[in-house]
Amino acid sequence: MSATLIVHGGTPLVGDIDVRGAKNLVSKAMVATMLAEEPCRLRAVPEISDVQIVSGLLELHGVRIDSTDEDGELILDPTNIAQAQMADIDAHAGSSRVPVLLCGPLLHRLGEAFIPDLGGCRIGERPINYHLDVLRQFGAVVEKRPEGLRLTAPHGLVGTKVVLPYPSVGATEQVLLTAVRAQGKTELRNAATEPEILDLIAVLQKMGAIISVPNDRVIRIEGVDRLGGFTHRAIPDRIEAGSWACAALATGGDVYVRGAQQQPMMTFLNVFRQVGGAFDIDDEGIRFWHPGGELNSIVLETDVHPGLMTDWQQPLVVALTQTTGLSIVHETVYENRLGFTAALADMGARIQVYRECLGGLPCRFGEANFLHSAVVSGPTPLRAAEIDVPDLRGGFSYLIAALAAEGSSKVRGIELIYRGYERFSDKLDALGADYSVA
Ligand code: EPU
Repeated sequence: MSATLIVHGGTPLVGDIDVRGAKNLVSKAMVATMLAEEPCRLRAVPEISDVQIVSGLLELHGVRIDSTDEDGELILDPTNIAQAQMADIDAHAGSSRVPVLLCGPLLHRLGEAFIPDLGGCRIGERPINYHLDVLRQFGAVVEKRPEGLRLTAPHGLVGTKVVLPYPSVGATEQVLLTAVRAQGKTELRNAATEPEILDLIAVLQKMGAIISVPNDRVIRIEGVDRLGGFTHRAIPDRIEAGSWACAALATGGDVYVRGAQQQPMMTFLNVFRQVGGAFDIDDEGIRFWHPGGELNSIVLETDVHPGLMTDWQQPLVVALTQTTGLSIVHETVYENRLGFTAALADMGARIQVYRECLGGLPCRFGEANFLHSAVVSGPTPLRAAEIDVPDLRGGFSYLIAALAAEGSSKVRGIELIYRGYERFSDKLDALGADYSVA
């Protein structure tokens, strides 16, 4: 059922909030438990619907999941793992891309895996060709069926040399989750090295895996026969932290994000400072605020880590509508992640989208006719509007725009935001936002 918020904008967000484990690590660490032969403890798990989706998926496969009183702790026991029916997987995972990551673990544990059609945010085509190519390299046989894909490994999974065409986060995770129990050694080149991936490597090492990250975009894995359990506190959610930072800037506010860490956010912090935002880092978190005066227009280009992550682009664009001059945005990770700007334009933002690469470097999308660059001209006061949440990050960005706008906006479809922003309405309360549920 679709839920709507009526947001009365124009009030700066001021106060303290907490962020817990990163959605994009937690879901993968939960999948990693399927490789274990003992119970695993994952801490700082946020209460978001993506975690519920992955929990449902693992339970379908026989993983027992209990929560404890410890801060967001889940105990996942995979000892009785079993194959689930394709229709059940489909029903549970229609809105997630995580099922594709179950392939390696299921092939190791049960000798076969099913994947239904995959969901996830509609921010581009989001194919799984890299995943399937990688699995085939390990020895998997992929059979297309009307209801999805069935994978088997008639001769077992064997370590291999993989060079990814692009440093995909998911394909890198696919290699890790498959190689740790494959026979022999695997070398992955052109790997993604996002902090969430390094945290997944930390989880796998706790389980008994042998993984080294010797130099630029190379990961080496030596397969082992058995993996045990782990106790792990998830890395904090840097996307969520950055999103609240943008909300502070766009509303002229002051938000302390307890749990935010400097290291994984360095690129974001540089951009935040270039725009004119202020921040202060202490042992517990990071305070973000608008220091008053004009904000600066910038050139913003998304890239794989250590570049500026694509998930920060959408909330940053809302803040850019409040800067003086022309900002340039070049989205190089997803071909269709600027569609959300149309609704911002309806709210009074001056944003023009382009098919050309407007950043410093040409990207994969320049020749392919995708509207993946934008020019934002500011500052423009935003006015209230009726908006439909298009995807997770776009949805939170609309919320920021509605909070910054004068008047009352209707934001429909906010349940999508719960996929990745824990208790966000409680956090809005803590920051003094003026809104009501329609
Ligand atoms: N790609 C392919 N073929 C593949 C896989 C990816 O062409 O088989 C392309 C994608 O279409 C995209 C690019 O490679 O253009 C990068 O995709 P990647 O595989 O890195 O992304 P992902 O693993 O599907 C994760 C996060 C995203 C985040 C990206 C980039 C999860 C569950 N999702 O997606 O997070 O934007 O990495 O950092 O971890 C979000 O949290 O809102 C979100 C979308």
